[in-house]
Amino acid sequence: MKRELLFDDGDRRWVYFGRDPERPDTLIDTNEYLVIHGDKAMLPDPGGIEIFPQVAAEVSGEVAIENIEVLFASHQDPDIISSLFLWIGVCPGVRVLAPWTWTLFIPHFGSARPVTGIPDEGMTIELGKSSDIRAIPAHYVHASGMFTLYDPRAKILFSADIGAALLPETETDVFVKDFDRHVGYMEAFHRRWMPSNRAKNAWIDRVKDLDIEMMCPQHGSIFKGKDVERFLGWFQDLEVGNAV
Ligand SMILES: [Fe+2]
Ligand SMILES: [Fe+2]
Repeated sequence: MKRELLFDDGDRRWVYFGRDPERPDTLIDTNEYLVIHGDKAMLPDPGGIEIFPQVAAEVSGEVAIENIEVLFASHQDPDIISSLFLWIGVCPGVRVLAPWTWTLFIPHFGSARPVTGIPDEGMTIELGKSSDIRAIPAHYVHASGMFTLYDPRAKILFSADIGAALLPETETDVFVKDFDRHVGYMEAFHRRWMPSNRAKNAWIDRVKDLDIEMMCPQHGSIFKGKDVERFLGWFQDLEVGNAV
């Protein structure tokens, strides 16, 4: 898998893994991110069962697996959290956070262990000795209960399926290089998988004044600098929910 260090200030680190060349093309490609604070770690949207061995191998190169303190599920989709029981198997003490709407659904991925529900308004997430990372509501963008994550220290917005792009195999850049061309890879996804213009615009209002250096989606390339603003402007103008 490709690896990229996104942020490191000595205490906090964000590491990206993705574009697994061995992934069968029957599976949507996913980005994995590892957030480390001190010696504790969080995996936002740890991914599906199929990619668990590759992700676990990459993660264990960065931090001791038993130091993963939090698994965060932005929503209930299989590409987000179907690896749940495998992660619980290797780090039994891990705290699993998910939108409260999905806490009785997600354990069907193979663990009857309780999942901590994030209330609709969001919450701050404790990681190691820190408590500055926030779960920001993104309900109906696209799941009915959904959260993105904002790290004010790293100035990183983890945007889950928002900003997702379905890239051809020839596009291997970790970061968006040409925004206008990138629109071609994400427009159909956003129009179909995002059901509500009102919800989309409410999420944009929640994040638009945040200081964001990188917006990190769960599929496709990472938006950096001006491309974050470009994305929010493009998304604001997009009509979604087009399957009727
Ligand atoms: Fe999803
Ligand atoms: Fe997804």
